[in-house]
Amino acid sequence: MTTEKDVLTALSHVKDPELGRDLVSLNMVKNVRISEGLATFTLELTTPACPLKAQIEREAVAAVRSLPGIDRVEVDLTSNVVARRRPGKIAVDKVRNVLCVASGKGGVGKSTVTVNFSVALGAPIVWRGPMVGKLISDFLRQVDWGDLDYLVVDLPPGTGDASLTLIQQVPLSGVVIVTTPQEAAVTTAGKALHMFKGMDVPILGIVENMSGFACPHCGVAVDIFAKGGGKEAARELKVPFLGEIPLDPDIRASGDHGLPFVLADPESQGARAFHSVAEQVAARISIENARDLQGFVILGDRRITPA
Ligand SMILES: Nc1ncnc2c1ncn2[C@@H]1O[C@H](COP(=O)(O)OP(=O)(O)O)[C@@H](O)[C@H]1O
Ligand SMILES: [Mg+2]
Repeated sequence: MTTEKDVLTALSHVKDPELGRDLVSLNMVKNVRISEGLATFTLELTTPACPLKAQIEREAVAAVRSLPGIDRVEVDLTSNVVARRRPGKIAVDKVRNVLCVASGKGGVGKSTVTVNFSVALGAPIVWRGPMVGKLISDFLRQVDWGDLDYLVVDLPPGTGDASLTLIQQVPLSGVVIVTTPQEAAVTTAGKALHMFKGMDVPILGIVENMSGFACPHCGVAVDIFAKGGGKEAARELKVPFLGEIPLDPDIRASGDHGLPFVLADPESQGARAFHSVAEQVAARISIENARDLQGFVILGDRRITPA
């Protein structure tokens, strides 16, 4: 007779490929039930935007399906985004992760990328606007953002006052760096990245924007600003590469009309690229937050610190 414990044992051989640990020790498996050959359980992912959702589900189903006496498996996929905490820093009420988007210089499409990938996550965005220094972290704390998995801050370009205060006062889940492919943009992006790294902010990765242009008349791809600079920089700086967003006149047009491109043209290549970046960012945050938990052993619902 296959028992619920056997189901857990089977699932303890399935790994989350990104977190590198098995689903059971990651505490992702809940509500295991067996009834007349049907096994049901809940898989609680670390983010609703998990890029490997389908793969994890498939492997989990296969593992349980192979148990004797089980002929049907039903999985309920949910998510529970962990809140980032940092000693000495005060979290924003009810907001589990504050992440920021930065660039070395202006005009590289940082705001465009921020808006679109925020929509892809369902996350609100904060514009710095005229806020400087301490005002930005006061503002983050004074607004009731509601119950939020992610809040994205569109930082001003470069490494100014607003960035520094945010880093010092808010437990940031990480920073996404946006660059265009040209060498000059990549070089300034590298400088911004070093500033964040030096202040112990996790680098979630680099996005290359305005990467290649598909001619609307003949469809041939033209690399107006060259291509691959972002990827190359990510490799050199040993940080994740989050993806490429094509140069597309429709992206500019929808931005001008105040409608995020992922909503204006959801099936386009550009929209798919923004979604993919959002999934990569969400996955990186899960990885960073899981790293924090490695000092714990997870037993059922309890986290126990080893003696
Ligand atoms: N992938 C893209 N394709 C076409 N136009 C883009 C793209 N990304 C940004 N733009 C346009 O480039 C200009 C600068 O983008 P913006 O997001 O304001 O840059 P930043 O915030 O870095 O200063 C805007 O007019 C925007 O619509
Ligand atoms: Mg901007």
